[in-house]
Amino acid sequence: MAERPAATGAAGYRAGVGFEPGFRLAGDGFVLRSWRRDDLEALLRHADDPAVARGLSDRFPSPYTRADGEAFLAGKLVDFAGPLLAIEAGGEACGGIGARPAREARPGVAELGYWLGRAHWGRGLMTRVVACYLGWLVPALVLRRVEAVVLDSNPASARVLEKNGFGEAGVRRAALRRAEGMHDLRLFARDHAG
Ligand SMILES: CC(C)(COP(=O)(O)OP(=O)(O)OC[C@H]1O[C@@H](n2cnc3c(N)ncnc32)[C@H](O)[C@@H]1OP(=O)(O)O)[C@@H](O)C(=O)NCCC(=O)NCCS
Repeated sequence: MAERPAATGAAGYRAGVGFEPGFRLAGDGFVLRSWRRDDLEALLRHADDPAVARGLSDRFPSPYTRADGEAFLAGKLVDFAGPLLAIEAGGEACGGIGARPAREARPGVAELGYWLGRAHWGRGLMTRVVACYLGWLVPALVLRRVEAVVLDSNPASARVLEKNGFGEAGVRRAALRRAEGMHDLRLFARDHAG
């Protein structure tokens, strides 16, 4: 299942510092690369969509304003020293993927997150992106476990994880309140031999 990513450029990543210029992971129909200031218009086109925000935590703004986009690309909302990459497909940034240390600060454990503009859904793209990204991330950060939290109303994301070898590890009942009611959070995990 794991797709071997082609990392190009004189590039690498140092935790706490970020990506070197030119870092790219090339996959089938997409490239993963650092976010750039000139991604703003494409970012707004794809991120300002309630259908995208519905699957994500409340940290993802909805509506997604120009000010939100500018603040994100300026590194004010996220830490670009983390392994955060833009998903480029069809010649423009149309989504994002990243990971951060697990909340309980367990060494070697990271929590995965991702989103993709609706225009690209349903073609297996995120399944391939996750395979490519983790194919690079897990050895690069010497991870022993990758986790992801999925809203109970988001079976497509659960499926993306299952297709990448994740198993369901538990459920946090009624853990999130949304306008439409309470949601369970499903925990998915993939373990890696140390
Ligand atoms: C979830 C998301 C990443 C999926 O991206 P995608 O490129 O469409 O995903 P893929 O095409 O690789 O795979 C989707 C899978 O879910 C399945 N699926 C889609 N809708 C579904 C539904 N309502 N019920 C069950 N399965 C569903 C698809 O059939 C496919 O599985 P298959 O290949 O076995 O047929 C995308 O919809 C998205 O970014 N949503 C908004 C943000 C988000 O939810 N992020 C994840 C937070 S945990």
